[in-house]
Amino acid sequence: MMKATAKAHTNIALIKYWGKRDEELILPTNSSLSLTLDGFHTTTTVDFREELREDRFTLDDTEITGDAYQRVSGFLHRIRLLAGKRELYADVRSVNEVPTAAGFASSASGFAALAAAGSRAIGLSLNDQELSRLTRQGSGSASRSIYGGFAEWQMGEKPDGSDSHAVPIAPIDHWDIRVAAVVLSSTQKDVSSRAGMKRTVETSPFYSGWLDSIPRDMEEIKSGIAAKDFEKVGQVAEANCLKMHATTLGAHPPFTYWHDTTMAVMQKVREMRAAGIPAYFTIDAGPNVKVLYLPEQEKQVEETLRSIPGVTDVRLSKSGKGVQYL
Ligand code: DP6
Repeated sequence: MMKATAKAHTNIALIKYWGKRDEELILPTNSSLSLTLDGFHTTTTVDFREELREDRFTLDDTEITGDAYQRVSGFLHRIRLLAGKRELYADVRSVNEVPTAAGFASSASGFAALAAAGSRAIGLSLNDQELSRLTRQGSGSASRSIYGGFAEWQMGEKPDGSDSHAVPIAPIDHWDIRVAAVVLSSTQKDVSSRAGMKRTVETSPFYSGWLDSIPRDMEEIKSGIAAKDFEKVGQVAEANCLKMHATTLGAHPPFTYWHDTTMAVMQKVREMRAAGIPAYFTIDAGPNVKVLYLPEQEKQVEETLRSIPGVTDVRLSKSGKGVQYL
């Protein structure tokens, strides 16, 4: 039987991946670091069958066609090439427990689960690093979801991508740090992360400043994680997010992912800090905000975030596990 099921969680980047040096292989221009989250996951079953003449992809009981199908089928093709089985097609069934409205890239948990289930179903036995390299070619941020807890995607330097993969930085039980996903009423996102980073790399004069700042941020955040220094980790993550978003304002044409409520949440987080509640924000390629906090402050943080006009939901999450086979 050529069938396997895997479950993967999404992750939130504290040092952002923002830019590619190779779009085909998905090789980044900078290393990134994230926390895998237990609240949001995708479970995928891949079934390779001789009688199929093309791949099939079902997401939450809906048959998918168009671009999303092409991306999945293109990725399955990489798995086929690795296994030397070019003519073997698969039936893929995914269930997403990543509320798209919460602004999480479901592509991170989606491609991590697909890579794990697909490679196992076709008979490859990949170690975590090999799996991360494969996953990277589906969606860059997904390469980090192979691991639980904190993970770093090391950009590597080789043109073939053989040294570009994630590595574990600290396991799930190292530190109980939490993330509140703040859901806004206006969630429309008009520039995808893929298109946004491309435009920024090609046209923003601020992009080189972004790149120059990464090695230091990376070093600082890793020492903060090792020392469980929440203030240090929060400060570095928040500043790194602001720098990433600043690059989009310099792009041509310029753009921003922020809405008015995005800025209201950022301001509220700063007010919490001024009132003595340690909390820090980070934002991906969309208007929603993620807030880092410690378990002791959970109640206060949740209440404060829920009270902001324009916030429709707050979803709390702990640190999550890496890929699991079911
Ligand atoms: C802002 O991983 O979605 O969330 O590699 O093109 O699929 P592709 O992009 P994707 O980009 C994520 C960008 C980000 C930052 C991050 O998660 O590191």
